[in-house]
Amino acid sequence: MILKLNDVTVIYPGTAAEVNRDRGSLPVKTKAIDGINFTANRGENIALIGENGAGKTTLLLAIVGILEISSGIIEADGIQLTRKTLNEVRKKIGLVFQNPDDQLFMPYIYDDVAFGCRNSGMTEEDIKIRVNETLNQLNISHLCNRSSLKLSEGEKRMAAIAAVLAMQPSILMFDEPTAFLDHRARRTLIETLQKLQHTKIIITHDMQFAEEVCNRVIILKNGRIAADESKAILYNKELMQNYGLEALQSKAAVQGG
Ligand SMILES: Nc1ncnc2c1ncn2[C@@H]1O[C@H](COP(=O)(O)OP(=O)(O)OP(=O)(O)O)[C@@H](O)[C@H]1O
Ligand SMILES: [Mg+2]
Repeated sequence: MILKLNDVTVIYPGTAAEVNRDRGSLPVKTKAIDGINFTANRGENIALIGENGAGKTTLLLAIVGILEISSGIIEADGIQLTRKTLNEVRKKIGLVFQNPDDQLFMPYIYDDVAFGCRNSGMTEEDIKIRVNETLNQLNISHLCNRSSLKLSEGEKRMAAIAAVLAMQPSILMFDEPTAFLDHRARRTLIETLQKLQHTKIIITHDMQFAEEVCNRVIILKNGRIAADESKAILYNKELMQNYGLEALQSKAAVQGG
């Protein structure tokens, strides 16, 4: 097993505005993740789905330690996530943010992709090899000397993936990677993800995409796991509707009722 979550809870503190508005009363807290348990095996491709506000983004941010968990245990590749192990865990898990602009901030894509490697103390020579390999792997070598400010959404998405891949994490996580992609960019992304052998957890509202890229589906509802099954669940109309989701149409849906 490569990733293990044991009774993980994330509570957002109330915002300053809320404290002000409710002067005198306690700040509003949101329990966004409420006692999550699951394990992922090496090489598994997991779609993380659920309606808006279900807690999907919060969960991934907690797994990479960007958000501190309120209770529970997260273990990645045998290492328990704590403040001390944060850097070590972040080398194992790469998160591709929902918005590529949050990932790309250097003058050139080359530097964006090199960024993590530079931070981890690799030599410039090794970094150059790594960056070129990674760009090649994703078929975006031509973007090397471009600025992310002048790329299309699809190009930015691939560059953001390159920036994460270059660190050679064992687990890859994505937050709505098909958002804003046109048909061709979406197809390219699907083919790219199918080729990557990493363990993947992918948040998506694109059920067809989940069907093509993932083998397992976890449905979140109000910060809890409502279902954790094979991707056949995507065709289960009644179950999907229960969680505010639209099922895929197919013969399997007819057979499965
Ligand atoms: N910084 C924050 N402070 C307080 N509450 C927050 C914060 N970020 C998110 N929340 C709340 O936590 C809950 C889960 O939000 P989250 O962003 O994880 O949902 P999501 O499943 O990713 O939704 P979406 O599909 O809309 O992206 C929601 O109720 C949301 O309002
Ligand atoms: Mg989200």
